[in-house]
Amino acid sequence: MTRLDLSHWWQPFTNVRAFRNNPRIINRAEGCFLYTEDGRDILDITAGLWCVALGHGRREVADAVHAQLLELDYAPPFQFGNPVTFRFADKLAEHAPAGLDRVFFTNSGSESVDTAVKIAFNYQIASGKPNKTRLVSRQRAYHGINVGGTSLQGLPNNRKGFPILHEVDFLDDTLDIENSAFSRGLPSHGADKADQLADIVETRGADNICAVIVEPVVGAGGMVPPPQGYLQRIREICDQHDILLIFDEVVTGFGRTGQCFASQSLGVTPDLMTTAKAINGGTIPMGGVFIRPDIQDAIFAAAPTTGPELFHGNTYAGSPVAAAAGLAAFEIYEREGLLTRASGPIGRYWEDALHSLRDIEHIIDIRNYGLLGAVTFRADPERFPAGAGVAVHNRCFENGLLARGVGDGMVMSPPLIISEQEIDLFLERYRKSIADVMD
Ligand SMILES: Cc1ncc(COP(=O)(O)O)c(C=O)c1O
Repeated sequence: MTRLDLSHWWQPFTNVRAFRNNPRIINRAEGCFLYTEDGRDILDITAGLWCVALGHGRREVADAVHAQLLELDYAPPFQFGNPVTFRFADKLAEHAPAGLDRVFFTNSGSESVDTAVKIAFNYQIASGKPNKTRLVSRQRAYHGINVGGTSLQGLPNNRKGFPILHEVDFLDDTLDIENSAFSRGLPSHGADKADQLADIVETRGADNICAVIVEPVVGAGGMVPPPQGYLQRIREICDQHDILLIFDEVVTGFGRTGQCFASQSLGVTPDLMTTAKAINGGTIPMGGVFIRPDIQDAIFAAAPTTGPELFHGNTYAGSPVAAAAGLAAFEIYEREGLLTRASGPIGRYWEDALHSLRDIEHIIDIRNYGLLGAVTFRADPERFPAGAGVAVHNRCFENGLLARGVGDGMVMSPPLIISEQEIDLFLERYRKSIADVMD
C-alpha cells in the first residue's frame, strides 16, 4: 500500500494522534459506498458529513463541473455576475420556503451562519432598532465554527478556548429521553420548552433581541427532532416581539426530511435560513443564506447609493463552478424525486429498520425523522470514557460502516438514494459492531 506522510495535514475535528496510529484512509467512492485502499467497502450511512445526498460519484455533476471549469472557471462576485450563478439562485428560489427567495451565497455552513447573523443585525439597524443586538440559541446546537457560530454553539467543547460574542442566551435542549424515548418522528412531549424564549424576552427586553437561531432538527448534537408544536411556539413568540427567526438548515436542507427544507416538512417558515452541504450534492464547497425580500429591501433602503448595500462576502461566494454543480445536482434531485423521497416508502422502511434495534439492551433511545436517525446507548464512562457511541463508531469502520459517534450516541443520515437492501446491510453491520464492542 502507498506510504503517506501523515505529518503535514492537521485534520479538522480529529484526534490526530490516534489517527496517526491507526490511519483510516478512504481512496474511492461510488453510490452509497466508500472504498479503502485495500479494497474494503464501507457503507456510508452518513452521506459523508450529511452532504453527499445524491450518492457518491454522480457523473452528470462531474461533467457539469468539468465543462464549467473550461467555460468560465471564475469571475469575481464583487460588482460582477455570471449567468450560471444567477440561474442557480433562480432554481433555489423555486424550491425555497414561501417568501424566502433571495439567496446570498457562501462557501460553507459556518459562513452561512455568520452571514445570516450579520444580515439580521444589519436589518435591525436598517429598521431603526440598533439596540436589538442579542441572540438566542439552544443547548446542544451546532452552528459551525466561525466566531458568530462558535458563540451560538450549544456544545461546550466547541466554545471552550475560543473567542466568542457574549450577548447570547440559550434555550434548554429538547432531548428528553425520560419522557420521549423511542418516539417515531416528532416526540409528543416538550413543546412547552419553547416558553423559555418568552422568559428570555421578559428578562432581556424585546427591544434588545435581534434573532433566534435553531436547527429545526438538531443535527450534529445528536439528531433531535423538535417536539410537536415547539417550533410553532418559537415562531409565535418571535412574531410577538419583532425578533427574527433563523433556521439553520445546513443539515436538514435539500430533501433530508422529505421536503426540500425541514421548514416545509414542519410547517414553520423562518425569516432567514442557512444552508450548505447538499446544496450541490456535497461536491464543491458552497452554502447559501435564504432571505425574505422585505429584509433585503429594508437593508437596501437604508444603505447609501454609493457603495455595496452589505459590506460582506467571500472571494468564492457563488463560484460558477459550485453553481454549475448545483444546477446539475438539482436536475438529479428533481428527475429522481429525491427531494421528497424521505417522506415515501423508503422513509418508512428506514424508520422501521432503526426501531427494530430496540431489542438491543444497551440502547436507551432511538430517534428518526425523514432520512435522519440516531441511537443513544446507556452511558458507561468507565468502559467508554470518550462515549459509547464513539466506541461503536470506531468498530463500525472496521466492520464496513461509516456512521457518526457523538458521545454516547450515534447519528445517521444516509444518501437519499439508499435502497432497502442497503438499509438491511446497515442493520447487519451495525448490530455486529454493537455486539463486538458491548457484549
Ligand atoms: C447545523 C449546522 N450548521 C452549520 C454547520 C457548519 O457547516 P460547515 O462545516 O460547512 O462550515 C454545520 C456542519 O455540520 C451544521 O450541522
